[in-house]
Amino acid sequence: MLSAKSLFQEILDDDESFQLFCSIAASGESQGGWENARIAALVPESERALAPKIARHGADEDKHGRIFNALLRKRGLAPVPVPHETDYTMLLEKHGIGLAHEKLRADRPLTLQDLIVYLSHSRVTEQRAAEQMMMLRKYFEDHPVVGRAVRMISDDEDNHLAYAHEELLRFAAAGHGRFIQLTLRECALAEIRVYRDVSLAVMDHMGRILGWPGAKSAALAAGIHAVYAWERFAGWRRMVTLQMPQRRDALGGPAAPAHEFA
Ligand SMILES: [Fe+2]
Ligand SMILES: [Fe+2]
Repeated sequence: MLSAKSLFQEILDDDESFQLFCSIAASGESQGGWENARIAALVPESERALAPKIARHGADEDKHGRIFNALLRKRGLAPVPVPHETDYTMLLEKHGIGLAHEKLRADRPLTLQDLIVYLSHSRVTEQRAAEQMMMLRKYFEDHPVVGRAVRMISDDEDNHLAYAHEELLRFAAAGHGRFIQLTLRECALAEIRVYRDVSLAVMDHMGRILGWPGAKSAALAAGIHAVYAWERFAGWRRMVTLQMPQRRDALGGPAAPAHEFA
C-alpha cells in the first residue's frame, strides 16, 4: 500500500535514497541558516531588538543542517550534490520570494518592509517545515536512528512558526497589516507551486534510485498534483492567517545545543 509512512520507510532504508534525502535537507537548512544570519546582521537600527531572534532562527537552521549531515556521517555516507530542481530554498529565492540573496550579500541595512517580507516568507515556509516535521514525527518519533533528530527539529520548527506569527502581529498592530496580507498571499501562492515542483522532482529521483515501477511513480505524482489542487483552491489560506501563539517569545534565548549530533 502507498502511504507516507511506507514511502519514507523505504527512503530511510536504502543508503542511496537516504543519502539524497539528508543531503537535500541539510542543504536547505544551511541556506536558511545563512539567510537568517545575513538578515540579523542587516537589521535596521529601529528594529535592533529583533536581531538576536533572527540570529537564533539562523542558528537553529544551521543546527538542523549539521544534524542531517551527522545522520549521514553516522551511516558512513557523505553528502551528495543537490539537484537544482530539488532545491526548495534556492527555487523560492529565484521566484522572488523572500529577500533576494543579492540584497543579503550587500552591506546596506534592510528596511522595515524587508523585515516584513522576511517574516512573511518565514510564516509560510515555517508552516510547511512544521507540517512536514509533524508528519515525520508521527511515524518516526521512536525510530532508533532518526527519532531524536526528528523530535528536536520538529520542536524548533514549531518555535519558528510561533515567532513568525507573533512578530508579524506586532507589525500588523503598528499599521502594516495591508502590506503583510499582500506579501503573505503572494508568498503562499508561490510556495505551493515551488513545493509541488520540488516534490515531483524529489520523488522522480527517489523512484529512479529505488526502482519504483511506473504505476507507483504515476500514483505518487497524481497525489502531489492533488495536494497542489487543494492548496491552490483553499489550502493556501492556512498559510496566511495570523494568530497569537500560545508560546510567546519562542526565539528568546540561545539555541538548544545538539551535542549528540554534531
Ligand atoms: Fe529547519
Ligand atoms: Fe525553521
